[in-house]
Amino acid sequence: RFTPTPEDKFSFGLWTVGWQGRDPFGDATRAALDPVESVQRLAELGAYGVTFHDDDLIPFGSSDTERESHIKRFRQALDATGLVVPMATTNLFTHPVFKDGAFTANDRDIRRYALRKTLRNIDLAVELGAHTYVAWGGREGAESGAAKDVRVALDRMKEAFDLLGQYVTEQGYDLRFAVEPKPNEPRGDILLPTVGHALAFIERLERPELVGVNPETGHEQMAGLNFTHGIAQALWAGKLFHIDLNGQSGIKYDQDLRFGSGNLRDAFWLVDLLESAGYTGPRHFDFKPPRTEDMAGVWASAAGNMRNYLILKARSAAFRADPEVREALRAARLHDLARPTAEDGLAGLLADRTAFEDFDAEEAGERGMAFEHLDQLALDHLLGAR
Ligand code: GCO
Ligand code: MN
Ligand code: MN
Ligand code: MN
Repeated sequence: RFTPTPEDKFSFGLWTVGWQGRDPFGDATRAALDPVESVQRLAELGAYGVTFHDDDLIPFGSSDTERESHIKRFRQALDATGLVVPMATTNLFTHPVFKDGAFTANDRDIRRYALRKTLRNIDLAVELGAHTYVAWGGREGAESGAAKDVRVALDRMKEAFDLLGQYVTEQGYDLRFAVEPKPNEPRGDILLPTVGHALAFIERLERPELVGVNPETGHEQMAGLNFTHGIAQALWAGKLFHIDLNGQSGIKYDQDLRFGSGNLRDAFWLVDLLESAGYTGPRHFDFKPPRTEDMAGVWASAAGNMRNYLILKARSAAFRADPEVREALRAARLHDLARPTAEDGLAGLLADRTAFEDFDAEEAGERGMAFEHLDQLALDHLLGAR
């Protein structure tokens, strides 16, 4: 029970289990992890996929021959384990060259370099079978006002995505982009800070159909937002191309806790949404095993992500199947929300005296919504009390 299999489509970034625990105040607490070992361990734990930044697989500055040998070893590990690479991304934040960002760095040479670094890794992503390319603009932002002309920076951001879209189209690649929003950290303020900002930006691109979002649990919660609502809007817009699952306790630094820790209620509603909406993409974990952990703790933390997802999936299924819940959903009038407000059209609405002239607002204002009973049933299911 609650044992993951590849059918569950759980995937992990190499940088998650491979995080050495370096933070702004402390050195690494764990040794570097060989990507080949990560692939083997993740496969043993029941994952189906692994993802990477270019530099996770091929250390920055590697020669072409070194690069080929890193790729070869990785490919062999994938073949041996059956793990797939559903997504890849670019590291545009670690090297000092990216200190003022990449696609929106004020320095044009750096913007051109960032695009070339990205295009090179897109070729590799496609070779390894990826269909999604994530773009997290970690350092696209500013700490001070005049340092960044945000409207002009957005022009450069659009230019970058238009060029990337042109490239994959001309190459005939079956690859879509997923923008990952984050409000701050490592920059004081980051461009495209929330799912909503990203969705609005995408519609301004030359090929909006090629670009969606990769929302991360903790990032929306850092902005005080309801992650599940953000995901629902992304689904509604047909833009949930990928997802980064993790845990976060409220508005503070990016915690990247394992999925299910932090805001457990939001995690429950998220799984309930993904499962009932029929989301078919990878359930990707972007977490950091706390630096208190040794390697045994890292693998325990990795396994916990998947276990928590599966437990919440079972709890959500039980909630939805409970006859008392169905009754409570009716009492809360969810079926009424699903009905168009004016099937009779504008003319019908205007002609309907019961909609206004004869409408009893006092009586309607007295009707209870019965939400508390419904929510208690959800909490009972979440806590295993039903
Ligand atoms: C974060 C971000 C990153 C990105 C990843 C992909 O926690 O700040 O999620 O982990 O997802 O680097 O570029
Ligand atoms: Mn994060
Ligand atoms: Mn992420
Ligand atoms: Mn992360």
